[in-house]
Amino acid sequence: MKDVRDLDGEAAEIMRMNDRGGYSVPTAGLYPYQWNWDSAFAAYGYAFLDIDRAWEELETLFSGQWPDGMVPHILFHQVDPSYFPGPDIWGGVGPLPSSGISQPPIAATMARLVWELDIDAGRDRVAALYPKMVAWHRWFMAARDDGHGAICLTHPWEAGRDNAPDWDGPMRRIEPHGIAPYERRDTGHVDQDMRPKKADYDRYLYLVKQGHDCGWDQAHLLGINPFRMADPTMTFTLLRATRDLIWIGQQLGADTSELPAMIARMEAGTETLWNPGLNAYDVRDMKTGEWANAVSNAAFLCWYAGVDPKDTLVTYERVQAKVRFGVASHDPDSPAFEPKRYWRGPSWAMMNMLIAMGMDEAGLEEGAALRRQTARMIETGGFSEYFDPTTGAPAGGQNFTWTAAVWLGWCSPNVRRGRWAQSR
Ligand code: GLC
Repeated sequence: MKDVRDLDGEAAEIMRMNDRGGYSVPTAGLYPYQWNWDSAFAAYGYAFLDIDRAWEELETLFSGQWPDGMVPHILFHQVDPSYFPGPDIWGGVGPLPSSGISQPPIAATMARLVWELDIDAGRDRVAALYPKMVAWHRWFMAARDDGHGAICLTHPWEAGRDNAPDWDGPMRRIEPHGIAPYERRDTGHVDQDMRPKKADYDRYLYLVKQGHDCGWDQAHLLGINPFRMADPTMTFTLLRATRDLIWIGQQLGADTSELPAMIARMEAGTETLWNPGLNAYDVRDMKTGEWANAVSNAAFLCWYAGVDPKDTLVTYERVQAKVRFGVASHDPDSPAFEPKRYWRGPSWAMMNMLIAMGMDEAGLEEGAALRRQTARMIETGGFSEYFDPTTGAPAGGQNFTWTAAVWLGWCSPNVRRGRWAQSR
């Protein structure tokens, strides 16, 4: 195990190493661009090193916002051939070269946490971001409401949980025709046993091509996109972020009048994601109504979203009892569980932070326990992308920004600042 003070220094060094000037990359090599929710976590991490740099991260993210309010999941600031699929394959239609889908909207939540660390330094910065964040949330409600108030995704990458077993059924039904031959770059950086398979990749690219070919016309895509999943990740993160947006707006004396209706709508949508047979919030296929029947770590964001957890704690205790370093991204009791493959089992430090944040706020002692477990996982495995939940062994890319950020802002024993950090 490493000395904790070393880890603080190492985390700060990773944040600096992955800084490309105004934005960070998740890790050099594997992910050489700005990713949406990675960046929001990065902003929180930078806030513990340099508050100005934290705001800059969010400002750069929103500089890629499309005219319709969407904030893309990747901004391609500088073309880098080591990543595929790049800007030409996506054909984003915003002010900067970008992808054409979004990612879990945690920016408003992180903006609030950053602001609370230094109210004076942040006032003008957050005031400028506020209308942009509202526009993004408005876009989600217009383009991603599943018809019941749950938020759906249109591509597995949109939920940030790329190859989760939740998508297996609907992905298998897709016939990926018409995609040009391509060469993956991810397996050149990371062992292919830790990455999605070729069959997944063909389908990822097929969905991208559909969007590209219609210029990302959302109304058109609604009719043709075979992949529409009402999802706890999207619903819980947007619900939470909208609550934080109201708080921010109120502090600023800004107009928040449209936001409570969004919350009411998503609270109703949340009810439609409870799968009683699974005893957990679950993914529902918007086209067929079928459940994924998959307990993912996203199910445990219900406290973070501030909704009724129902029996989630029982399910949480069951899955946590099966691994040493949770929270496993997929149910360890399921035959689809693979402890090293990305979103099919590994534990992710940044998901743990969000889960624990909600638990802390709900007064559950499991939040502090999860923080200690995550700290031990990082002490054991370093700042890797994700971890084998059975052993704590590092997996995926190394020197990862969000793992470093989560250490600096949440699970290092030396974290002392901020309202939420102090109340732990
Ligand atoms: C992978 C992850 C996604 C993340 C991205 C960059 O695609 O699944 O959640 O944003 O890598 O780290």
